[in-house]
Amino acid sequence: MAKIKHIISADQFDPLVLEKIFEEAEKIRKTEEGSLDTLLENKSIALLFWEPSTRTFLSFYNAILKLGGLPIPILNAGKFSSAIKGESLKDTIRSAADLKVDGIIMRHNQEGSAKIASDTMDRYAPKIPVINAGDGKGEHPTQMLLDIYTIWRAKKEELKEGKLTGALVGDLQDSRVLHSDVKALIKYKTRLILISEKGNNLPKEILEEMERKKIDYIKTDDIKKFAPGIDFWIFTRLQTERRGAYLMERKEGIHTQLQRKFNQRFGITESLISKMKNDAIILHPLPRVGEIPEWVDKDERAIYLARKENAESQVTNGLYLRMALLKMIFRKTKTQAGW
Ligand code: NCD
Repeated sequence: MAKIKHIISADQFDPLVLEKIFEEAEKIRKTEEGSLDTLLENKSIALLFWEPSTRTFLSFYNAILKLGGLPIPILNAGKFSSAIKGESLKDTIRSAADLKVDGIIMRHNQEGSAKIASDTMDRYAPKIPVINAGDGKGEHPTQMLLDIYTIWRAKKEELKEGKLTGALVGDLQDSRVLHSDVKALIKYKTRLILISEKGNNLPKEILEEMERKKIDYIKTDDIKKFAPGIDFWIFTRLQTERRGAYLMERKEGIHTQLQRKFNQRFGITESLISKMKNDAIILHPLPRVGEIPEWVDKDERAIYLARKENAESQVTNGLYLRMALLKMIFRKTKTQAGW
């Protein structure tokens, strides 16, 4: 198994590696909850975010702190770094390396940007790992890790045995979260119900991979039809920022109209929830903008945010998972598997 340094795509992870990361996250959850570690002592990690973020940024930031490291945040990097003066992505990344950061976590609006950054590091500063925290409509591999970790926690054996049916709902075309999630779920042979507007499809290469791996899947625009057989649901918002006329539409209120129409068809309603399995789980990478109304939060199946203190929370899982990932990347001795 190849040694993993950069985290660029969900393609890099197979169930064996995922299992190791999840077990590490479980250990952290149980034994080190809230406590500081020293693994990242004297290590500084740049958080270069060209695009907005709440959870990914905060969880990485907190994970670095809890491991004893020093986060260097540059939020809105498009404005507050020299990018606004026309600096190239490569020069920004090379400068971070020349300034002796020990790692780079980046979110950028351009698909493929994380790969450009990691190739740049391989050439100029090969010890510095790059973690993709979202590259345009490309991928979001660490969100995939926490999504699958959340499913693994709830339904470990069925996941591993390929016995689950999962619904991926919303913006299949532009949601980088769904792209990364599907890539991983293919490896678990999960049966997939892909629910979106007609014509809103997963990227061609992912669909081809599903065909190659003979994944049992259905594409539908009917959110209720298969609900009684679905074990987990991953909802997403309409990625309006990936659609050209975003700002104009927003000004004219079309943006909200679009969203409202989308939510009616691809969001949770009372009639949908009444058809869901009793032991189904409901995930959402967040932010939600109406696809999951707040009244759903009380439902025990809803685990995107903690329903009450210490209840299961996909967001909290993101913290432990990212701590585990950082530990595995920066740990001095690696296992044979590359971890
Ligand atoms: C997602 C993202 O940025 O792709 N958010 C996240 O990281 N939790 C989902 C989204 O923005 O819709």
